[in-house]
Amino acid sequence: MKKTLLLLTLALIPIGRMCAQVDYNVIPLPQSVAIDKQGGSYQLTSGAVVSYPSSSEELRRSAEMLCDYLQESTGLSLTAEPDRRKDAAIILSYPKERSTESEAYTLTVGKKGVTIEGSGAGVFHGIQTLRKAIGASNTDTIQLPYVTINDEPRFPYRGAHIDCCRHFFSVDFLKRYIDILALHGCNKLHWHLTDDQGWRFEVKALPELAEQGSIRRETVIGANLGIYDGVEYGRGLYYTQEQCREVVEYARERYIDVIPEIELPGHMVAALHVYPELGCRGEGYEVWTEWGVSKDILCAGNPKTLDFLKTILGELCEVFPSRLIHIGGDEAPRTRWKECPRCQEKMKELGLTDEAQLQTYINSELEAFLAERGRTIIGWDEILEGGASESATIMNWHGRELAVEAASKGRDVVMTPMEFCYFDYYQLRDRSRQPLGIGGYVPVSKVYTLEPVPEELSPEEARHILGAQCNLWAEYIAYPQHMEYMLLPRLSALSEVQWTQPKLKDYDGFLRRLPRLIELYDRLGFKHCQSLE
Ligand code: ACM
Ligand code: ZN
Repeated sequence: MKKTLLLLTLALIPIGRMCAQVDYNVIPLPQSVAIDKQGGSYQLTSGAVVSYPSSSEELRRSAEMLCDYLQESTGLSLTAEPDRRKDAAIILSYPKERSTESEAYTLTVGKKGVTIEGSGAGVFHGIQTLRKAIGASNTDTIQLPYVTINDEPRFPYRGAHIDCCRHFFSVDFLKRYIDILALHGCNKLHWHLTDDQGWRFEVKALPELAEQGSIRRETVIGANLGIYDGVEYGRGLYYTQEQCREVVEYARERYIDVIPEIELPGHMVAALHVYPELGCRGEGYEVWTEWGVSKDILCAGNPKTLDFLKTILGELCEVFPSRLIHIGGDEAPRTRWKECPRCQEKMKELGLTDEAQLQTYINSELEAFLAERGRTIIGWDEILEGGASESATIMNWHGRELAVEAASKGRDVVMTPMEFCYFDYYQLRDRSRQPLGIGGYVPVSKVYTLEPVPEELSPEEARHILGAQCNLWAEYIAYPQHMEYMLLPRLSALSEVQWTQPKLKDYDGFLRRLPRLIELYDRLGFKHCQSLE
């Protein structure tokens, strides 16, 4: 079918039509779906049991989630019960030889019912496939065609980012965001916690940091045009450590790691407002009220700067179990460092010849500090400029050549190229049909074409490409519904990039599969863009 015709067909599907038909070709497309040729099907009805091994707390939890999912999307009422293999309609289990690392699962439907087998994460992914295959309907009886699905994700890192600094998003919304990620097979949430316009992570040893650094006097209106709204923003809007733990736990139960980011040495104006002595100028910092890149960054020549950062990162490690800790590193102009006697003195002491190396010096100190806690640094690709350490993971947002350089030198890389992965960009060409955005144009069709592995890499080097992630910067996204609208349905296209083997990817097929997923969004109340380009 021609693409235009397909789009027209999609446009004509009435919103809210309820599918009762099961289709295992979900998004992201599983690696292997073998429908039974005899055409048999198993009838799933209300009152049926989902069995899990009584010894497994995680499979109990997943069984209960499956019951909740199906209740919400179909009205079907199932119950989760331990050790009911003999008469259950759905059996969740571990394989005999279990690798907890593996995210693979096998989902079968046959005469006796449904089985989903895998590690805890594998079973969870199988549950997501089953709920999407069933789709949104109003029924208490579902005919499940016999099938064998063998599936596992292509990449180990399947992420989405959220900026909670420019605008704050509640813990409840973060949980909903995590639910959306889980539905799409994502396993990493990159949580951007600190920036020029608001510090949102509680540091117990430095209570003023969040108490004062979270507040900006006012906010620039519109497209950063120099007119301000006169309305204070952010007082009390930060995450306590207890709230962070709650988010981490909610994500963990959905097999999602939360990777926290403390931006350094740039994007630190909110912190400089609270501790002006940590800046090269030493005074005159206000939590930023506009968007962009500030010249004011942490002073690298002040010994207190590293103590400050270690205090923050030490507490961060107590709250976030993630192996990867994001230290930012992007958009840190070195203008002030060039003018600052203390920074220049530090460079002389260390024998450094340019300011980029000074940034690397800070990163290396923190890397060693984090390594003692079993952690690894990840940073935006600017950290390569001064020669990043071998063990740093690079988050590539600029040119692909930086990803090639990093991976060919044995560094792990996460791909977030702007032209495919910046979901703060517009998703339709006609800007008048969308809320004001930062600019750019990243339609669903573009997202779908991302191939995260540069073809220049050898198979050995390609293993360093850990996966891909979308970024949602929130300068122009102030409300949860807007955030969801920016995320969906683009995340569906990205999920297929992250999960599905390239030989199975097919945009026309994706477009045929998408309306069922959109029906599920509607049923679950997830806001999404209504048009596709
Ligand atoms: C970035 O978009 N500044 C990483
Ligand atoms: Zn300085």
